[in-house]
Amino acid sequence: MAHIVGGLASSHIPSIGAAIAKGTQQDPYWKPFFDSFPPIHEWLAQTQPDVAVVFYNDHGLNFFLDKMPTFSVGAAPEYRNADEGWGIPTLPPFKGTPELSWHLINHLIEQEFDITTCQEMWVDHAFTLPLKLFWPGAECPVLTVPVCINTVQFPMPSAQRCYKLGQAVGEAIRNWDSDKKVVVIGTGGLSHQLDGARAGHINKPFDLEFMKSLQDNPAWATQFSIHELVEKTGTQGVELVMWLAMRGALGDQVSTVHQNYHIPISNTAAGVMALATV
Ligand code: DHB
Ligand code: FE
Repeated sequence: MAHIVGGLASSHIPSIGAAIAKGTQQDPYWKPFFDSFPPIHEWLAQTQPDVAVVFYNDHGLNFFLDKMPTFSVGAAPEYRNADEGWGIPTLPPFKGTPELSWHLINHLIEQEFDITTCQEMWVDHAFTLPLKLFWPGAECPVLTVPVCINTVQFPMPSAQRCYKLGQAVGEAIRNWDSDKKVVVIGTGGLSHQLDGARAGHINKPFDLEFMKSLQDNPAWATQFSIHELVEKTGTQGVELVMWLAMRGALGDQVSTVHQNYHIPISNTAAGVMALATV
């Protein structure tokens, strides 16, 4: 059966792509953010996952406001990037694994998650940048399954529902008849609000409590409604449900390999975390 080696989480701020493209990772502005990745590269070199299942939110590239699935799963042989601006160079296609995608889809439907199945899927900065940060080489070396959660248009799934989705994804991976090693990724957050009267809102105490909870008390954030999360973390801060889904997939016990929290990058509290299953 397949084995989950652990989980990774990162913010997915588009200007990261511009910093990588310009080679400014060691500038004083960027260094505290990019310095969080070498320890994670070491862990990935040791654990050597074959596949990444990635919880992320699309921002209007693959789904626009006219059609907005709550949960959707990619089942394509490859996923192309066509970002929505910011001057980020597009990346080579990411390889899919339709075998694991369909296994996940079947398991999720059986478990009463009425997901949308995507045999074609464009992926934006929320998918591409964290993968580039974790695997900085020219081509992403792992096969991928995108799992998209709507956090751009109300109504959004609750934190509790996203955590349960993560648990169901974890069960599916663990009963996949394969010898592959899988890492589960969540991208987004932490606190940020890009527009409106509270643009620039950041809530460091909440973010740090949330990161702490992922180690030992992973259901902690499920006590909050989406509206409470918006109040606490900003309109785009709700993207932190991706971290919760990732954590749900890992099971009871994890150990923290590495974590970093740096504010701000652009308008966002930039969090990074690597958790190993034990
Ligand atoms: C920013 C953060 C995001 O999560 C995003 O999707 C777009 C922009 C930002 O802080 O600039
Ligand atoms: Fe975002």
